[in-house]
Amino acid sequence: MNPQFYAGAYYDEISELPGGLILFLVESNRFLGSYKYRIGLDSYFPRLCGSCGEFHMNKTILVTGGAGFIGSNFVRCERLRSNRIINLDILTYAGNLLNLEQLKGDSDHIFIQGDIRDRELVRKLLKGYQPDAVVNLAAESHVDRSIDSPESFIQTNIIGTYHLMEEAREYWKSLSPERREHFRFLHVSTDEVYGSLGPQAPAFIENSPYAPNSPYSASKAASDHLVRAYFHTFGVPAIITNCSNNYGPRQFPEKLAPLIVLNAVEGKPLPIYGDGLNVRDWLHVDDHCDALHAVLEKGKPGQTYNIGGCCEKTNLETVNTLCALLDEMIPTSRHVPHCSLITFVEDRPGHDRRYAIDCSRIRSELGWRAKETFESGMRKTIQWYLDNPEWVHSIKTGAYRDWMSRQYGGAGKNEDSPQKAPGKA
Ligand code: NAD
Ligand code: TYD
Repeated sequence: MNPQFYAGAYYDEISELPGGLILFLVESNRFLGSYKYRIGLDSYFPRLCGSCGEFHMNKTILVTGGAGFIGSNFVRCERLRSNRIINLDILTYAGNLLNLEQLKGDSDHIFIQGDIRDRELVRKLLKGYQPDAVVNLAAESHVDRSIDSPESFIQTNIIGTYHLMEEAREYWKSLSPERREHFRFLHVSTDEVYGSLGPQAPAFIENSPYAPNSPYSASKAASDHLVRAYFHTFGVPAIITNCSNNYGPRQFPEKLAPLIVLNAVEGKPLPIYGDGLNVRDWLHVDDHCDALHAVLEKGKPGQTYNIGGCCEKTNLETVNTLCALLDEMIPTSRHVPHCSLITFVEDRPGHDRRYAIDCSRIRSELGWRAKETFESGMRKTIQWYLDNPEWVHSIKTGAYRDWMSRQYGGAGKNEDSPQKAPGKA
């Protein structure tokens, strides 16, 4: 048995009985081997949170998009904090139940395959599970796909957020005054809504004007505005977070970091768009999840929080770092030095030059800061991809192969000349 810290003491078993009663099995004296039982009401006992060191009540959270990259990491983090998770995910190409393998058999993680646009389903889930918070991570998330085909971005990111928000509003109105006060709708968004920065411009702050440049960022911007409006007009206690580029385990390998790692391992070209000098601000996904947790617990309704790693790198620097780490981690690979696989390809249309996040607000108001450095986080990430070939195999379906060949065309070979333009067939 794994003792759990709950209500100020360690218990070997905590089980929920009907009517909100909690049964604690307490090992009161390990030396004498005597046990005693205690029954208490769950809501009377706050729990010490391992990550922020404060006492919280256990929560039920409706997470949308919880089978995707950030969602699955967030769900796992929240289960470690003993929050109950209702996970609603339609399982697009980016959603993968293997991302949730570690939660198999966990009765406090309830997975429902479904669409955030399905009002009836969302209503049933809210009514049936009575969550204390909704965390909206469901989205179409890849810029290149939004250039290829924007429709699903409008559908999920804008229309989906609208339907979810509407149902959340109805549900929130139905709660008791006390629960209404504590309810949160956390909308997870991106720094890309602010557009592109010049080389010397200061990093984005929460008041930076919105200037989205891709169909993806425009759809996220629209959803942010809706969420903001629901706070101002209806008083729904909503919070928005705008985060910089994430990397980490379980990221679909259409995004830069996993694409480079997996291509490098296989000796395939490492495609760099344009001159490779576009800048992104990198953050490990666990740090993002910690930030989301802090916002859920301590964030102010109606507020926006920027989240970032203070870690600006050109794409060339990022790819070179990944290559150098791979050289060190798999020195016997016949593809060492991996940087020889770097291939410059035609630029992404409308490619934002630079993103950088100023996260002073979340640091000063909520006490959050990133724990991983770029090097430590990237090293762990590479190790995860090397250690999980079955996951890698699982996502390399026909649909993935089709996307790769549509996007990168002949970039299956390591040629010297520029390759086909991304986003063009
Ligand atoms: P992802 O593409 O890996 O996962 C998205 C998940 O949403 C998938 O599991 C998918 O099945 C699910 N989904 C899509 N449409 C749905 C629908 N209609 N109903 C229910 N589920 C649906 O994306 P991610 O990288 O994990 O990003 C999650 C959120 O975080 C997005 O809102 C994204 O804009 C935001 N974000 C991402 C990053 C990043 O670097 N990845 C950075 C900042 C913000
Ligand atoms: P990506 O991971 O798609 O995230 P975003 O576009 O949301 O920032 O891309 C990160 C950066 O890497 C971006 O500047 C585009 C660039 N990039 C490449 O150079 N080559 C690639 O194959 C991909 C997917 C991205």
